[in-house]
Amino acid sequence: MKFFIDTANLAHIKEANDLGILDGVTTNPSLMAKEGIKGQENILKHYADICALVEGDVSAEVLSTDFNGMVEEGKKLAAIHKNIVVKVPMIKDGIKAIKWFTDNGIRTNCTLVFSAGQAILAAKAGATYVSPFIGRVDDSNWDGIVLIEQLSHIYSVQGFDTQILAASIRNALHIVRSAEAGAHVCTCPLDSILGLLKHPLTDIGLAKFLEDAKKM
Ligand code: E4P
Repeated sequence: MKFFIDTANLAHIKEANDLGILDGVTTNPSLMAKEGIKGQENILKHYADICALVEGDVSAEVLSTDFNGMVEEGKKLAAIHKNIVVKVPMIKDGIKAIKWFTDNGIRTNCTLVFSAGQAILAAKAGATYVSPFIGRVDDSNWDGIVLIEQLSHIYSVQGFDTQILAASIRNALHIVRSAEAGAHVCTCPLDSILGLLKHPLTDIGLAKFLEDAKKM
């Protein structure tokens, strides 16, 4: 399973990248706004800065919701760097735009996916990635991991090439369960990635080893 970091924060991206396990980055308009990125020029520059930091796919989201607007924006985003993946919302014009991008050699990430039916449409349109939001599914009293399992089964029996990108990750357990359920990629905030490191028995064991090492 590939690891993407889900942030527009350059320091977090650098810290995760320095671990040596980072395969890419996802952003969304909320994450960009959180970093205070405003105006088209600054937005494009920020994506270029992220691409310069990480050797891997970087999802950049279109803001338009009509077919022509998404295509025009997507072309500009894709021109920033070869690693840019155009992130497109799961709406009717979004599916048309994903098909257009697929036919024109531009890779896509279909975002805001909450059902298997939506994921089938994204795969049929040729999306490179499909992003089921498992944390938000959990928030609505359904089970986000069950959705990953369902997509994994459907994509496997149907032979779809689209990669399942588990998104809206809230903790380290979501990462482990996404891996178990067959996600190809997990996009996680830095805290969830670092959360994978933690186990109290590791801390206790290391303290004991260091104490005993003094007697060596
Ligand atoms: C990633 O591509 C999504 O935009 C992101 O994971 C959404 O996460 P959230 O539900 O924590 O906002």
